[in-house]
Amino acid sequence: VNAPAAFVAGWPVSHSRSPLIHRYWLNRYGIVGDYRPEAVPPDGFAEFAASIASKGYVGGNVTIPHKEAAFRACNVTTPAARSLGAVNTLWIQYGTLHGDNTDVFGFTANLDETAPDWRAARTALVLGAGGAARGVVRALLDAAISAVTVLNRTPERARDLALAAGQGVRGGGLDDLDEALGAADIVVNATPAGMDGAAGFTVDWSRARRGAIAVDIVYVPLMTPFLAGAATAGLRIVDGLGMLLHQAAPGFERWFGRRPEVDGELRRAVLADLGA
Ligand code: ATR
Repeated sequence: VNAPAAFVAGWPVSHSRSPLIHRYWLNRYGIVGDYRPEAVPPDGFAEFAASIASKGYVGGNVTIPHKEAAFRACNVTTPAARSLGAVNTLWIQYGTLHGDNTDVFGFTANLDETAPDWRAARTALVLGAGGAARGVVRALLDAAISAVTVLNRTPERARDLALAAGQGVRGGGLDDLDEALGAADIVVNATPAGMDGAAGFTVDWSRARRGAIAVDIVYVPLMTPFLAGAATAGLRIVDGLGMLLHQAAPGFERWFGRRPEVDGELRRAVLADLGA
């Protein structure tokens, strides 16, 4: 029997930290297996999907820009994948391609670990209206947070997201940021703004609720301008690295047969690789 191998498919894929994470776990648990990056060009996912089994893979991860194409390529999908129309974790079972989306799980598991009382929040504010924001809104609703405001640079996209998400979700533009901030128990940045160190938008954190939690899904840099501002104002902050580590665990378990632990040593290994 060949050692099981998994992949991460993306374009570009060289920046992905998934190989580091999965190889850390393989090594840590003494599992003979492999995890490899696969550079798949923007229009190439369907072709790649058809070759997964013949390349000897048991499954893999999918990252930008292929999550929607991966969803379409699957024969079987989980409810989480269907609710987002996007897949980030693939596996082959009895010759059939299955897909899950573990981003919602990763977001939730990370908050459960680092700020467990987030589930007591009643009002949430989400910045951004792309695929990442859709996952965050799903996680908030699943945690029974009943009032969610989605604000976006392009207000129309936030309104569309809110409409699709259903009752209790309203959308708007960044003009409403100050007012919405004052009502929020949890504030999530689901935009890539801050990745280059630029804020993208300004948050007047003096308006935030005492005891509110600020969450960023960006992990490069770890301390985004968004989180730095929140910390200065005395809010609790949750960075994006924990979500990255937790979303990886369900895939590893499917491919390699053991539920891996997200521990401090893994976090330090990824931080060192990020140069943080
Ligand atoms: P993803 O699927 O990763 O969420 P996306 O669909 O491209 O990616 O969505 C990116 C989100 O971040 C969008 O909400 C985008 O705002 P627009 O809809 O107006 O484009 C938001 N975004 C990106 N860069 C931003 C910036 N510099 N300032 C504010 N919002 C930004």
